[in-house]
Amino acid sequence: MTDQELIQAAKAMLNRSYAPFSHYAVGAALLGSDGNVYTGCNIESATYGATICAERGAICNAFAHGCRRFVRGAVISSGAEYCTPCGICRQLLYEFSDHLVMLCCRNDGAYLALTAEELLPHGFKNETMA
Ligand code: THU
Repeated sequence: MTDQELIQAAKAMLNRSYAPFSHYAVGAALLGSDGNVYTGCNIESATYGATICAERGAICNAFAHGCRRFVRGAVISSGAEYCTPCGICRQLLYEFSDHLVMLCCRNDGAYLALTAEELLPHGFKNETMA
């Protein structure tokens, strides 16, 4: 799985996005430790706060298939700027990271490759409570 293939998988999710309020479509693709790719799109709610980001949708998709660790991911939006995960998604990506690197894309083809630790420095996870 090349970076370009992962980015393409994320991009393909833009069509599935449900974003009638922000009009900001987001697609995500996560390569699991099992070698499979799990995708997701943002799903907005009329109550706004119940909105689910594309990254968390992809994580839920992976869990539903028995995969709980991720090595690489891509996220892209309909906007012109780099799409970087929100704080809540950073937390989950950090917790389920297997040396995860996220490709935070712009739709002109440029992207930032950021580790889970770069996205969430000094993050809290299960082992912290040991
Ligand atoms: N959104 C994502 O799906 N992922 C991100 O990384 C940033 C934000 C969604 C949530 C909402 O549907 C829309 O983008 C605007 O915030």
